[in-house]
Amino acid sequence: MLIALFPGDGIGPEIVAQAKRVLDALAIDGLTYEEGLVGGAAYKAVGHPLPPATLDLAKRADAILFGAVGDPDCDSLERHLRPEQAILGLRKELGLFSNLRPAKVFPELADASALKHEVASAIDLLIVRETNGDVYFGEKGMRKTPEGLREGYDIMSYNEEQVRKIAHQGFQAARARRGKLCSVDKANVLETSQLWRDVVIEVSADYPDVALSHMYVDNAAMQLVRNPGQFDVIVTGNMFGDILSDQASMCVGSIGMLASATLNDSNQGLYEPIHGSAPDIAGQGKANPLATVLSAGMMLRYSLGLPEQADRIEAAVAKALADGARSFDLGGTMSTVEMGDAVLAALA
Ligand code: IPM
Ligand code: MG
Repeated sequence: MLIALFPGDGIGPEIVAQAKRVLDALAIDGLTYEEGLVGGAAYKAVGHPLPPATLDLAKRADAILFGAVGDPDCDSLERHLRPEQAILGLRKELGLFSNLRPAKVFPELADASALKHEVASAIDLLIVRETNGDVYFGEKGMRKTPEGLREGYDIMSYNEEQVRKIAHQGFQAARARRGKLCSVDKANVLETSQLWRDVVIEVSADYPDVALSHMYVDNAAMQLVRNPGQFDVIVTGNMFGDILSDQASMCVGSIGMLASATLNDSNQGLYEPIHGSAPDIAGQGKANPLATVLSAGMMLRYSLGLPEQADRIEAAVAKALADGARSFDLGGTMSTVEMGDAVLAALA
């Protein structure tokens, strides 16, 4: 089985290196790795954030382990050359539409959360975020108004097939967990969201065992802080899911802890921490590699069919934390490599 490693920009190479050490320590037969250039690193080397060789490797691979993209040096490039286009291009080209972002509190970290201990301790939720549509992929541009003012625009849309597909993912995930699905939209204002809500209700007929509720995104943002324990699975669109998943990460303690999987119809997946490239701390050994290590665990579970090995990674992360491993974002002083060491020690 072929795993594509795409470290990318900023802290990406440091955190992917630690996840690779953990995978190596599991000594799984038959895994091969190939590394590819993505993001600003690819732009600087070959002039494009998602070069053809990278896309080809991604398509051949059984799974992709991705670090992060984003580089301030590239912020004034034309949009199609910016680092972020690498992840957006991979999601689109490979049909990776179902982005799973679990957020659960490790008991040892409840005090790192911005929320009160008893509120944070109750968090065990999964955000199912659509990643092939929405305002991310609509027509966009700059134009002039009739009065000559500059105007930027980005068209938001979803078709019913896109909503149906992600709704099924949400219901199935809820069925495999506590049986509660909350669909988040802005149907009081947006037509896109009205269609979203109508289609989610249609799909719910196939899942009488799942309790469906609907919430406007502004209320969902508030409820995530007020009483996040009420959520089991949240299904939502690309933009709302982007925002709510960053918010959920601080509710559980640190954005350095949240892993994600993005799957297509054939369970090929891209695995990445939900955080970005953190250029302010890149190269300093300050990044927390645990979100990437946990993403590697999700990769073993969802794309490679190795649930026992995935369990081992999750248990090792929990043990490392219980034994006191703390990177800077968790209020400690351990370096990226030392955090990797701690996971390896816990695995052994
Ligand atoms: C994420 C990131 C990306 C997104 C960026 C890097 C394009 O924020 O995966 O959440 O907006 O989807
Ligand atoms: Mg994001």
